[in-house]
Amino acid sequence: MKKKLFLMVIAVLLFALTGCSSAGGGKTSGKESKGFVGIAMPTKSAERWIQDGGNMKKILEEKGYKVDLQYAEDVVENQISQIENMITKGVDVLVIASIDGKSLTNVLEGAKAQNIPVISYDRLIMDTDHVNYYVTFDNYKVGQLQGKYIEEKLGLKEGKGPYNIELFAGSPDDNNAYFFFDGAMSILKPYMDKGQLIVQSGQTKFEQVATLRWDGSLAQSRMDNILSAHYTDKRLDAVLSPYDPISLGVISSLKGVGYGTKDKPLPLITGQDADLASIKSIVAGEQTQTIFKDTRKLAEKAVEMIEALLSGKEPEVNDTKSYDNGVKVVPAYLLEPVSVDITNYKEVLIDSGYYTEEQIKN
Ligand code: GAL
Repeated sequence: MKKKLFLMVIAVLLFALTGCSSAGGGKTSGKESKGFVGIAMPTKSAERWIQDGGNMKKILEEKGYKVDLQYAEDVVENQISQIENMITKGVDVLVIASIDGKSLTNVLEGAKAQNIPVISYDRLIMDTDHVNYYVTFDNYKVGQLQGKYIEEKLGLKEGKGPYNIELFAGSPDDNNAYFFFDGAMSILKPYMDKGQLIVQSGQTKFEQVATLRWDGSLAQSRMDNILSAHYTDKRLDAVLSPYDPISLGVISSLKGVGYGTKDKPLPLITGQDADLASIKSIVAGEQTQTIFKDTRKLAEKAVEMIEALLSGKEPEVNDTKSYDNGVKVVPAYLLEPVSVDITNYKEVLIDSGYYTEEQIKN
């Protein structure tokens, strides 16, 4: 009997304690803070996510919110446990840029049970009904801008060619990768069909050209293999690359077989994210183009969504059709991507204060 009573007392104490700790970090901390926001980012190994997370944290803290910002170094299990922890700590809203969009279904059941709204950040979270809003760029348009750049610079509309091209796509566990590839193919495929663009490797399907976790070194070794198997006596004229570190990997591979000289100039190479290293490469005449997605604007938009959600208002969206995550079409706000090359990088990146001239020079 005594033992039972003792156990009950312990249980009550434990309940009170856990209640306290979650209150300290979460809901009731709203008394001192305007709310508690959990931000789960994929990795610090890419420049952009550091900026995305940092920008959101800064704006939110200035506005009086409490923030738990975590990076998972591209390990899916880390991200899942970080999100679990945020739920346990009692966050009021979750903002997630997933590593593997299909791996969060279970953990988000926990958020649903606690009525914690979820904003999918940049990448769509798949296979769950518990994702309330999506804030991103027009991902299909990103691919179209890459494709159009190749179309324009090679004079394909004017009937020029045939040119040799090789294709690269992003990570198969990231829904964006399909949008980028499909957008680019919507422009390039007709020229492939007409024979103005030739893919000597024959690798034209998404599964054949995808790059797991957007890894530049994987892309580099795929390019090495393609060059030695198909280009020993042919010139490569263009490379569709979906992401700056992939572009740089491809460039290293090309330089390894002698491209990048007067007699053997590098092919035209697209990219995405306007990473500093790639802007330097563009200025040095190596990478040709990138897509700038202003992470400051994305972070601001996410913060607007958070504030609307926490004050019981409807966040603003401008797309209710494009992003089906397998369970529902997620209402989205899409921002505009901008194509950048040597002709406009100053205006787009320096004049807007995204980079300073010194950063690019050094
Ligand atoms: C995508 C994102 C791109 C790029 C890539 C690799 O989801 O939209 O801008 O950052 O991931 O990190």
